[in-house]
Amino acid sequence: MSTSTDCCARPTTTTSACCTPAPSCCAPAPAAHASSPSTQDALRQQVREAYAEVARASDAGQASGCATSCCGTSDDAAINTLISTRLGYSTADLAAVPSGADMGLGCGNPKAIAALRPGETVVDLGAGGGFDCFLAAREVGAQGRVIGVDMTPDMVSKARANAVKGRFDNVEFRLGEIEHLPVADGTADVVISNCVINLSPDKAQVFHDAFRVLKPGGRLAISDVVATAELPEAMRQDAALIAGCMGNASLIGDLEAMMRAAGFAQIRIEPKDESKAFIADWAPGRNVTDYVVAATIEAVKPGACCGGSRC
Ligand SMILES: C[S@@+](CC[C@H](N)C(=O)[O-])C[C@H]1O[C@@H](n2cnc3c(N)ncnc32)[C@H](O)[C@@H]1O
Repeated sequence: MSTSTDCCARPTTTTSACCTPAPSCCAPAPAAHASSPSTQDALRQQVREAYAEVARASDAGQASGCATSCCGTSDDAAINTLISTRLGYSTADLAAVPSGADMGLGCGNPKAIAALRPGETVVDLGAGGGFDCFLAAREVGAQGRVIGVDMTPDMVSKARANAVKGRFDNVEFRLGEIEHLPVADGTADVVISNCVINLSPDKAQVFHDAFRVLKPGGRLAISDVVATAELPEAMRQDAALIAGCMGNASLIGDLEAMMRAAGFAQIRIEPKDESKAFIADWAPGRNVTDYVVAATIEAVKPGACCGGSRC
């Protein structure tokens, strides 16, 4: 194991707490419940730097090699297979995507709840290396399309290279923030996301924009980390826990209220207790599973016409 005592120099190899990207500098984390635009942007920048580091390390084959995490990464395909099968992906799923697309960064399998149909248009919030986009692309087929959005340029480059490698003509990746999606109104049949919304400093705006890009009757199918109890302030302020998909998690009731305010109906948020087994490994010794758990989050944008009546 090689680590540095200087917190500004990232450890390149760790055997413990390896599952959260190191904070990018010594500055304290911006408040996770940041409300001013500049504080929100500071938080986004911190998350962006952490995932740029993850993308570059993965490209350079310098990843941690740890077999535990959503938010750390490994360039070892066998380790990522182990992580992803724990999250609910099948070995057939893993074999169907270009090598390097599965970075072991998720906390569930949104495709499993999305019930995608041929011809549908899918938008993936925080697409990372494109893993879930490629799986969705196979389900919607040549008549459908998938748009992956990510705010980290290194991730978008990686995802685009993966699309070329796997000859995915019905997938495109756009650089942008999930709070301000670079997608036209009423485009998507389905919005998916895997372990990203908890990273946003303005989740209410994420749900508003997801609602905007969905067609009437369109659906949300999300895997994410949610809070089951108020996190202690020290955890909320911990840059590594924030970038590691835990520190900024919202309470289930708060998420539901945000989704309702955005206009969603048929909201269903289901915590997955079994996820505590892998979440505990993301921050060993921190008792994080007393506060957070992975969940599936589903909802529908009302307004589709069902045989002449509104539904
Ligand atoms: C934990 S990774 C998940 C990646 C991918 N969904 C997966 O499961 O492999 C989080 C990703 O979301 C992106 N991200 C985080 N916050 C974002 C935001 N506010 N807007 C757009 N992308 C964001 C990061 O750049 C990173 O690629």
